[in-house]
Amino acid sequence: MRGGQRPALMWVAHRRATDLKRSDCLKRRRMSGKADMEYISIGTVRIAKTAALAPMAGVADTAFRTVMKEFGAAYCVGEMASIKGLCYSDRKTAELLSLTAGERPAAVQLFGCEPEFAAQAVEIAERYEPDIIDLNAGCPVPKVAGNGAGSALMKDPVLFGKMVTALVGAAHVPVTVKIRAGWDAEHINACEIAHIAEECGAAAVAVHARTKTQMYSGNADRNIISAVKQTVKIPVIGNGDVDSVEKCEAMYRETGCDLVMIGRGAYGNPWLFRDIGDFYAGRPAQSPPALDERLDVMRRHIELLVHCKGENVGMKEARAQAAFYLKGMQNAAKYRGMCGRLTKVDDLWELIDLIKSENDL
Ligand SMILES: Cc1cc2nc3c(=O)[nH]c(=O)nc-3n(C[C@H](O)[C@H](O)[C@H](O)COP(=O)(O)O)c2cc1C
Repeated sequence: MRGGQRPALMWVAHRRATDLKRSDCLKRRRMSGKADMEYISIGTVRIAKTAALAPMAGVADTAFRTVMKEFGAAYCVGEMASIKGLCYSDRKTAELLSLTAGERPAAVQLFGCEPEFAAQAVEIAERYEPDIIDLNAGCPVPKVAGNGAGSALMKDPVLFGKMVTALVGAAHVPVTVKIRAGWDAEHINACEIAHIAEECGAAAVAVHARTKTQMYSGNADRNIISAVKQTVKIPVIGNGDVDSVEKCEAMYRETGCDLVMIGRGAYGNPWLFRDIGDFYAGRPAQSPPALDERLDVMRRHIELLVHCKGENVGMKEARAQAAFYLKGMQNAAKYRGMCGRLTKVDDLWELIDLIKSENDL
């Protein structure tokens, strides 16, 4: 029953039960009937003050970003591309910069630590007509930080400033930076780095409120975002651990940030952007997606993936994406195990048919 019209089976064990438990603060906002959507400006780019999709290399590709934008992500950032790789005409690196109309407003993200290559990289990046160019100063992985780029730039504020200056000098669109709290607990310098970014002409700063050494462990420290917001005048984007409307609202309220950015909370859950959009537009909360809707969106996401990358690569990458959509449902372990064996588009049809038949859809 592909795309069948049978009555929807409600999502039995919806994994984000907390979304249903609206805090008093959320209720008050809805009941107030205030529906004026707010916007922020990054340079000349206007972005709804709801939630943006974070850059996630290997996950948030064109297909992922398109689906999240369809559900209301206000802005998205592409997968990081190497500044040097671009200058050495690496085709695969350049492909990371492609943006489709449905993803805008969108940034491309560059990483590197060679100011002398920045202008050429910007010239290449701008051929893809990004709305914004973002500098990655937060990536902790050894391949990047071990070579002086990503979060390692936070250990070298002078070089960081040179990178920002070089990018801003070459770009015809706003340049933003994405940073962490600092290198480690003894070297929390997000405020200093954000200040340098502002002085060097950056149009906004996104803060993932963990240190490099934390990687993704522990909790994001919202106090750091708050401190950065009090340090600079450019827009501050708050990032880390937002996976519900409540946490989005808390991020805005506790930090005063101008925009919230969501990464892992969007895995298999574009409805999070819908719910956040509804909340800030003053619309009533919608029910969590029924199982057939969830399967339909999963199918659309994977079809886009295959369209962008071909069946071979697309279906390999679809294994993780499909598993995200199935997380938390009845018999999830069995279905997720089957995701790991997806090879052809037909395998996906079979899986969807099986899930539907076992759930009376
Ligand atoms: C798989 C994965 C890939 C990521 N890739 C990037 C990247 O390319 N550039 C970047 O600035 N941050 C990257 N990040 C960090 C996220 O943008 C974000 O800062 C981090 O996940 C914290 O936000 P969250 O708690 O909402 O996920 C990545 C994170 C994940 C999980």
